[in-house]
Formats: sequence, C-alpha cells, structure tokens
Amino acid sequence: MKTRLLRDIEVSEVGMGCMAFSHGYGQIPPEEYSVEAIRNAYRNGCTFFDTAEIYSPNLSGIGHNERIVGKALKDVRRDVVLATKLFLDRLEVKKEGTVYKAVRRHLEDSMDRLQTDMVDLYYLHRANGGIRIEDVAEAMGLLIEDGLIRGWGLSQVDVDIIDRAQNVTPISAIQNIYSMVERDMEKAVIPYCMEHGIGVVPFSPIASGLLSGKITTETKFEANDDVRNWVPQLSKANIAGKQPIIDLLKKYAEMKNATSAQISLAWMLHKYPNVVPIPGSKNKERIVENLDASKVELTDEEFRSLEEALDGCRVYGHRGFHR
Ligand SMILES: NC(=O)c1ccc[n+]([C@@H]2O[C@H](COP(=O)([O-])OP(=O)(O)OC[C@H]3O[C@@H](n4cnc5c(N)ncnc54)[C@H](OP(=O)(O)O)[C@@H]3O)[C@@H](O)[C@H]2O)c1
Repeated sequence: MKTRLLRDIEVSEVGMGCMAFSHGYGQIPPEEYSVEAIRNAYRNGCTFFDTAEIYSPNLSGIGHNERIVGKALKDVRRDVVLATKLFLDRLEVKKEGTVYKAVRRHLEDSMDRLQTDMVDLYYLHRANGGIRIEDVAEAMGLLIEDGLIRGWGLSQVDVDIIDRAQNVTPISAIQNIYSMVERDMEKAVIPYCMEHGIGVVPFSPIASGLLSGKITTETKFEANDDVRNWVPQLSKANIAGKQPIIDLLKKYAEMKNATSAQISLAWMLHKYPNVVPIPGSKNKERIVENLDASKVELTDEEFRSLEEALDGCRVYGHRGFHR
C-alpha cells in the first residue's frame, strides 16, 4: 500500500482502528478471530494499527484491546507502527510526583500488554485531566529522548491546545473525529497541521458505519456496549436527513466500481496529503475492503464535483465534539 508520513513516522495511507474488538460496537468477536483479522490486515498492506489502554468491554478494565493487538503483531513488530493512548488525571500526577513519571507508568504498562519495548505513536486520549498541556508535551519529549516512543499526539483537541503543545515538543499526529459528515477539522485544525508538518488521523472516518450505506432508519443496534445507540448522527431522524449524502456516495461507488465506504475514504485521501484514516471494523472482509480504499483514485475532476455536491448537502446531527 502507498504510505504517508505522520511527521517522520511512515505508515500505510489507510490504517486500522482496532477498538471494536474490545468495545463500542456491540458483541466482541472471539479473541482468535480478532488476532487473525489484524494479521490479515497486515498481510493486506496495513502497517498502522490504532488502540488505546482504555479499550476494554464496556470500558471497564484496562488493556483488553492492547493485549489483542500485541499478540497479533508481535512477530512483525518491527514492520508496523503501533499507536496507543493514555488518560491522565491530576490525582495520579500528584501521586507519582511528576507528569513524566505518571505518563511513563502508563506507557510501560501499555508496552507490556503490546509485547513491545517501544511505542511508535503515543497519544494523550483527552486533554481534560486538569494538567497543563505544556507539561504533558514536555513529558512526551523526555520519553522520545528515552527512546520509549517515536512520536506523540493529541486526540479531540482544538488549535489552541495543539499550538501550546507543539511549541514544547513537536507533535506527530492529531487524532480527531473526521468524515464527510464531521468536517469541523477543516476549518482550523487541518490547516494548522498542514502548516506544521503534523499528521491527521481521522477516527470514525466512515461515521460509525453510516457512510457505508449499510445503515438505514430500520437498523437495530446492539443492546450492550454499542455507541451507535447514542451517537446523535445515527438517530433515526438524522439518518433520514443524511440520505442525500448516502445517495451521493452510492452514485460515485457505482461509477468507480468501488464501495461507498471506500469512496468516503478516497475523498479524504485525495483532499489532504497528511490525512491517514483509521476505519474500524470487527469484520475481516470489511477491514480489507476499507484498506483497499487506497486503490481507489479519484481524479481531480471527480473530487471537485463530489466535494461540490457534498457542500450542497445539509448535515443532520453530529457525534458531539465541540457542540
Ligand atoms: N481518539 C478517540 O477518541 C477515538 C474515538 C473513537 C474511535 N477511535 C479509533 O478510531 C477507530 C475507528 O473509529 P470507528 O470504529 O468509530 O470508525 P468507523 O469505521 O467510522 O465506524 C465503525 C463502524 O462502521 C462499520 N463499518 C466499517 N467499515 C464498514 C464497511 N466497509 N461496510 C459496512 N460497515 C462498515 C463497522 O461495522 P462492522 O464492525 O460490522 O464492520 C462499525 O460498526 C477505532 O477503532 C479506534 O481505534 C478513537
């Protein structure tokens, strides 16, 4: 697969979000299936895998997902880029003595679970733990010097936070929500990242499945641990309101002999050179389908007319960031 740079970290231009093997989209598959699905993604060209310490069934417990990712990729560890994330709060920092010590403790636990001696990309999952972002940036800089991480990033942040952090330790990637129906990042975050050599890693790039065209107002989500029950953009009214966008994708999918999900990913790949989406799926075949978005090339003309049509569609309902 073609590759892109998240600052100086080279990754396949479509990565893989591994969360759903542990949390967020209902029933999780048996561990052996998940391990095999991740290995199959690697065999199909994916070299960028996203997890987080918090991804566990119902978010109760720590590390379920990191253990699966670690097990799946241990034999090819040097050929892949592992990204994980930590949550941090003030009490913990007080207990450990410094931000550096607190972050390092999280990192070492993640490294154990991931069966690795180094994490390529280490994100602060949310910048809301009551800790100055400059202090987190400084700690991440020290961990880079220690050789324990190659780069660091932030998730769900605005330009003010990014700029303050970037001035202390250059950031490798920003992971915010971004898709054809969640375009806030286009206003300031992506332009800032382009200007400062920062990669952009959109999460929920298929809008939690909506842009695949496989979700309708009749779709029933699962009762347990399924974020689609509360994601505002997937309420019945908002699904119906976004039908013109689903239809638009279908039209392009037919024209390009691709799937709607692939067109939605190809759109963002065409639009920005520093964007590396991480679609998530717990289905082995769909994971490969999404990776193959890298093979779908939109011409400049196709992109322009798609973008123009998209701009003309009203978006109903957002997932919730900054709203
Ligand atoms: N930083 C953060 O705060 C944050 C938040 C959320 C997620 N993330 C990361 O971002 C990754 C991706 O997020 P996400 O899982 O919400 O993304 P997503 O790919 O937009 O949504 C996943 C949903 O879409 C469905 N889907 C995916 N590809 C499909 C296809 N080709 N056809 C039909 N349905 C398809 C999946 O169903 P199936 O499983 O049935 O295929 C699943 O229900 C996560 O795995 C996680 O690593 C980060």
